[in-house]
Amino acid sequence: MGARSWACVPTLMVATALLLFSFSWSPNLVLTTTTTKMVSTPFLTTLLAVLSPHKHNRVYANEFTSSPPVYPSPPSRGLGWEWAFTQASYFVANLTLEEKAQIVTGTPGPCVGNIGAIPRLGFDGICMQDGPLGIRLATYASAFPAGLTAAASWDRGLIFARGDYLGDEFRRKGSHVLLGPVVGPLGRIAYAGRNWEGFSPDPYLTGEAAAQTIMGIQRNGVQASLKHFIANEQETQRLPTTSRNGTTIESLSSNIDDRTMHELYLWPFANGVRVGVSSIMCSYNRINSSYGCQNSKNLNGLLKTELGFQGYVVSDWGATHAGVDAVNAGLDMDMPGSIGWNANISMFGGNLTRAVINGSLPISRIDDMVQRVMTPYFFLRQQHYPPIDGRSPLLNNGNLPPWRHRFNLGPPDIDVRDGHADLIRELGSAGTVLLKNHNNTLPLHAPRTIGVFGNDAGDLVDGVYFSGGSYDQPYGYEYGTLPVGGGSGAARLPNLITPLEAIKLRAARDGTSVQYLLNNTLITESSLSISRPDGLTYIVPVPEVCLVFLKTYASEGVDRHDLEADWNSNSVVNTVAAYCNNTVVVTHSAGINDMPWANNPNVTAILAAHLPGEQSGNSIVDILYGNVNPSGKLPYTIALNATDYDFARLTNSTRLQETEDPNAWQSDFSEGLLIDYRHFDYYNKSVRFEFGFGLSYTSFELSDLVVQNILPEREITALPAAAPVGPGGNDNLWANLYLVNATVTNLGNVSGACVSQLYLGLPQIPGEQPTPINVLRGFEKTYLRRGESQTVQFWLKRRDLSYWNSTIQNWVIPAGEIIVRAGFSSRDIQMQSIISPIRGRPFAE
Ligand code: BGC
Repeated sequence: MGARSWACVPTLMVATALLLFSFSWSPNLVLTTTTTKMVSTPFLTTLLAVLSPHKHNRVYANEFTSSPPVYPSPPSRGLGWEWAFTQASYFVANLTLEEKAQIVTGTPGPCVGNIGAIPRLGFDGICMQDGPLGIRLATYASAFPAGLTAAASWDRGLIFARGDYLGDEFRRKGSHVLLGPVVGPLGRIAYAGRNWEGFSPDPYLTGEAAAQTIMGIQRNGVQASLKHFIANEQETQRLPTTSRNGTTIESLSSNIDDRTMHELYLWPFANGVRVGVSSIMCSYNRINSSYGCQNSKNLNGLLKTELGFQGYVVSDWGATHAGVDAVNAGLDMDMPGSIGWNANISMFGGNLTRAVINGSLPISRIDDMVQRVMTPYFFLRQQHYPPIDGRSPLLNNGNLPPWRHRFNLGPPDIDVRDGHADLIRELGSAGTVLLKNHNNTLPLHAPRTIGVFGNDAGDLVDGVYFSGGSYDQPYGYEYGTLPVGGGSGAARLPNLITPLEAIKLRAARDGTSVQYLLNNTLITESSLSISRPDGLTYIVPVPEVCLVFLKTYASEGVDRHDLEADWNSNSVVNTVAAYCNNTVVVTHSAGINDMPWANNPNVTAILAAHLPGEQSGNSIVDILYGNVNPSGKLPYTIALNATDYDFARLTNSTRLQETEDPNAWQSDFSEGLLIDYRHFDYYNKSVRFEFGFGLSYTSFELSDLVVQNILPEREITALPAAAPVGPGGNDNLWANLYLVNATVTNLGNVSGACVSQLYLGLPQIPGEQPTPINVLRGFEKTYLRRGESQTVQFWLKRRDLSYWNSTIQNWVIPAGEIIVRAGFSSRDIQMQSIISPIRGRPFAE
């Protein structure tokens, strides 16, 4: 944190005082039923209806218009990595001051991010590569399904396997660090351009998915860099700009209250730290007025003190705004190590050596920075590492030698894909959500004719790499299917299978005729029934089933304009549905779509196929033909109207675009904890498809809910017992307090997987902002043959049952009843039970 934030301390005190004496929310009704019974959706709706919504007011947002100073930066002790910590200490002891500065400063080289080698110590340097769904700048590497798709599978095993294969590919390409996974953005804003790189707006689902991914990556000896810390919830004004008069207009400030920070945005980072993530990338935006890579409250306070993070904080590319100030605020590495495009000047590098020599930076801090970088390096045994693929330098913007440092370059074009396409295909299907299936339209049974429509069905015509978006071209390329999004989260497609080619191949087995029209303009202008200018008819006869493929592009650097799928998609669906009464819509989308045509009776089935990666066509054909029974569930809510998401809008306006005020870009997260389903549930709003929803070709039942205490309830204290902080924070927060068992049964005639979901209804906290009605706190995916039953288990940890009390700065299990709800979506609750861990002994502040 720089001087600016220090200057804000008095403001903070006034703001806090105001907060304490200001209006507070009145508590909601306390739910008193203690019986375990079936709760259907109507019951839940009634239940929700009696909970009176409270008017939103910007009260707690005032609390953090500035970010309190937290200094000094706590040194790592290598917790969990003890032997590697010792090895790193010896290494650090052998370095000169210049070499220390070198290890924390990026330099031009063959990868997206490079740390130069120190040959005299046998150190080959560090190669960092994007990104979260594959090696972006590489040949012969896989393009996996996006994080969003992985989340939609709700399958820990598949998510782990994806991380494992990603790690395997990065290692064999010589990349020490994978710049991912993404948990920021979390997905507060439906329109945000990078939501698809991460998992879900639900922090529990995101936290679980991130942990599995990190464990998968790191088991290959590759470092994961969990990003972007924190509140990187929109692309617009993520970087500073220059006004017409030449003033620097600072990046957007995400203004978040402390409770929301902990229960939403910090939550998944805690999961990552808990499983030993090596690195965390700080974000471009400001948080409570202080830049993400210079925010001492967040880096020194939340991350390194509260969560006990032992690894290093690396800047997002170009997100470093100072040398000594950023270092003191907790930043450990500057990437790419240049100011703007000038590769020879960094805020770190020589500036840090000078700062140590002139006494403005203690050597102990530099030692800690290097120690934090080198401990995971030794822990993952990276000193014996495959060479960097020789194609990498060329792909990285043609950055060819000579560089300042020698890099361990190997031959080019190493093929690292192995059999990974099988997992990609499987996860692509597993992350596809069946939203509607009227009269069992799907799966297809050897139709005589299929019509394929829409510009998302066919092959790419503008190349196989989505470099990014721009304000002029927000929708990406017009023709070709969308398997991944754009920007640094993309990957070059090594061998894309399109929906159309996979459908044709599969249809040929049944002698099905496949006709297609992939030009959206032609579809809408022709109305299909009208003949072509030359008198011929476009599609004849009317197909038995019409498959409409839609896409929604999104990319780093740009936010979405609307929630409609791109290229006039609503008209495309309406046109095809007017002509064909058995229309199946498939979306390949980088995020939420509103679906105004969902109730059209001629739209008989809808599949949200997200971003499936390189096997896109095979993944969707497996679902369409019933090779794979759909089991994906929405990791977000599909609301009735785009305006229903207005509780968290993009910050942007003409006034802001033209401002001369450096501080004008402010985004108050005044909805607090109520994003996505938490908002819709709290305000009892109807939605089109709720969070956690997804159909199957079979049906399931959940029964026999049993909630067991691990400890006798009287032994559960409201506060966690104090314990030394390790990675993930107070160890006691991770202790299991309850075990929930239920039986899940496949009632139908085909085998399939179901996702049993556990939600908690935590009580309202008097005087506090609203607590969500329902929060996800468990999920289990179970594969069941027809007629088969299995037990599912959910472990509830102390953190799962707690809220963040910002006054005492601790997690607290609230007094009163906690409703434990088990079901198949956030609004399809099958059973519930009540627990009262802190019966009659409320925590008194
Ligand atoms: C992105 C990061 C990425 C980095 C390196 C930045 O613009 O925000 O996510 O890892 O570039 O490409």
